[in-house]
Amino acid sequence: MKSLKSLRLASALSVIGAVVTVAPAQADTARVAVHIATDAAPTQAIDRNIFGQFAEHLGQGIYGGVWVGKDSAIPNVRGIRSDVVAALKAIKVPNVRWPGGCFADEYHWRDGIGPAAARKVHVNSNWGGVPEANTFGTDEFMDFADQIGADAYVSVNVGSGSPEEAADWLEYMTAPTETTLAKERAANGHPQPYKVALLGLGNENWGCGGAMSPDHYVEEMKRFAHYVHNFNPAQHDAGQMKRVAVGWDSGKSDYTEQVMKAWADKVYSWDIEGVSLHNYVVGGWPPHFPATGFGEDDYAATIREAFNMDKLIVQQTAIMDKYDPGKKVFLSVDEWGAWLAPTPGSHPGFLAQQNSLRDAILAAVNLNIFARHADRVKNANIAQMINVLQAMILTDGPRMVLTPTYHVYRMYVPFQDAKLVPVSFDAGRYEHGKDSMPRLDAVAARDAEGHLWLSLINIDPNAPVRVALDHGRSASGQVLTAAKVDAVNTFAAPDQVAPRAVKVQSGTGGLVIEVPAKSVMVVRVD
Ligand code: AHR
Repeated sequence: MKSLKSLRLASALSVIGAVVTVAPAQADTARVAVHIATDAAPTQAIDRNIFGQFAEHLGQGIYGGVWVGKDSAIPNVRGIRSDVVAALKAIKVPNVRWPGGCFADEYHWRDGIGPAAARKVHVNSNWGGVPEANTFGTDEFMDFADQIGADAYVSVNVGSGSPEEAADWLEYMTAPTETTLAKERAANGHPQPYKVALLGLGNENWGCGGAMSPDHYVEEMKRFAHYVHNFNPAQHDAGQMKRVAVGWDSGKSDYTEQVMKAWADKVYSWDIEGVSLHNYVVGGWPPHFPATGFGEDDYAATIREAFNMDKLIVQQTAIMDKYDPGKKVFLSVDEWGAWLAPTPGSHPGFLAQQNSLRDAILAAVNLNIFARHADRVKNANIAQMINVLQAMILTDGPRMVLTPTYHVYRMYVPFQDAKLVPVSFDAGRYEHGKDSMPRLDAVAARDAEGHLWLSLINIDPNAPVRVALDHGRSASGQVLTAAKVDAVNTFAAPDQVAPRAVKVQSGTGGLVIEVPAKSVMVVRVD
C-alpha cells in the first residue's frame, strides 16, 4: 500500500491511473487520496470462492433454515425452503461447506441416506446435545446446492471416521452408475454422479477433530488424500476436486508448517490443493461482544480485531511461501466471521446471534483483505450461512429476514472472478480509546466486461468522507449504512439496514462521491 501525502501528489499520480481523492469539503472532513492503477498490467483474479458459505448441522443452520421437510406449509421444493433458495441465488453463492465444522468429524454419511426409516437419529454432541435426525443428508445437501447454483464443499470425517468410510462416501457421490454404491445413489433418486468441487480433509483436528498433534494429523491426512477418489468423469480434467488440509491452530502448534513441509516432500501417491485457516472476531473466549445494543466501544474493538485477518494471512502465506514459492497450494479461510454473545434466551449451543450494520462493515473489511491476497487466498467461507453466527439470513418458522451482512454479499457480486486493480491510499486512522485502525478501506477490480468496480468502506462512525475521482464521468452503485452501528433488521422491521442507490455525475470539480460515516459502498466507475 503506497502512502500519498497530499492532494498535490495525488494529482501527479493521475498520469498513471485514476485518482480518487477526498475533497476538502469541510475543515473537519478527512482527506484521503486513493490511487487506482487502472493502467497496471492485468493482475490476479479475485476467486469467486472467497464468497463461499458454511452450513453446519448446528442449531437452526440446517433444520428450519434450509430444510423444512416436504410436508411443511412453508413453500419448499423437495423439503428445501424456497424463500431461502431465492435469496441465496441472488448473492451467487459459489460454494457451500457442509456438514461441519466440528460436526463433520463425528458425521457418518450412511446415517443420512435412503428412506426416512433408514435414517439414524444420534445426539449432536457438539452442538447442544439435541437429537440429529439425519433427515438432511448427502442427497438433500446436493439438491440444495443445485437449487442455489453453488458448488459442494464436503468435509470428510478424519477425527472419528476412516479413509475407507470417506472413500465410500466419495464413491457414492461421484461414481458413474456401474458400482454398487453408485447404484445405491441411483436408487435414492440420483443416477447422475454429483460434483464435489472441494473436499475438506477433516476440520480443526487440533481441537474438536481429535486433538491430534500436527505429526499425527499429517499422517492421517496423507492417507485420506490418497484413498479418497473423485470418480466423476466430468471432474477428471477441468474442474478437478481440490483437497483442503487443516492448517492454523490459533498459534498453539504448527499445523500449517507441518502440512506444507509434508507437501513439499510428498510422494506421487497423494496431494492437496489447499490448507485451511479459521479465525473468528471473538474478543476472547467465551464470546462476549454484544450483537445488539452496543455503542462505539464495542464497534471499534470488533472492527479493529477484524483487521487482524490481514496479519494472519501474511503470516500463513510466509509459511506457505517457504515450501511453495510457486503458490500451487491455496489458503482456504473456510471459517471466519463475528462470533458474538448468543441471543438472550436462545440455546447457547445453537450459536444464534443478531447481525448489525457493524457486522456488515466487518464482513466487507474481511472480503477486501481476501481480495488483496487473491494470489494465495482462493477460498473463504463465512460462518455461517443461516441462523448461526454471522449469518446471511435469519428465519423463524415461515418468516425470513436478510441481514446487513447479506447485503454486503449482494453488493460484492461484481467482484466475483473480477481482476484486482491495485489501489494505494493513505487511509488515515480512526481512533477510539485504545483502538486504532485504518479510517478508509478500498478495493478495485475489473470485471469480464471491462467495467471498473470500486468498494469503499468508511470505518469512521462519526464523519463522512467526500471522495473525488479525477477519472471517469459517473459512478453508480449502492451504499449500505444506517443511523447507528448497532442497527439490525428484524422480522417486524426488515429494512432498517438496506442498500440505497448511489449515482454521481462528474461536475466542474470532477467526480465527487460522498461516502457516509459507517458505510460500505460499491460503485461502478464509468
Ligand atoms: O462455526 C462453529 C464452529 O467453530 C465449527 O464447528 C468449528 O470448526 C469452529 O471451531
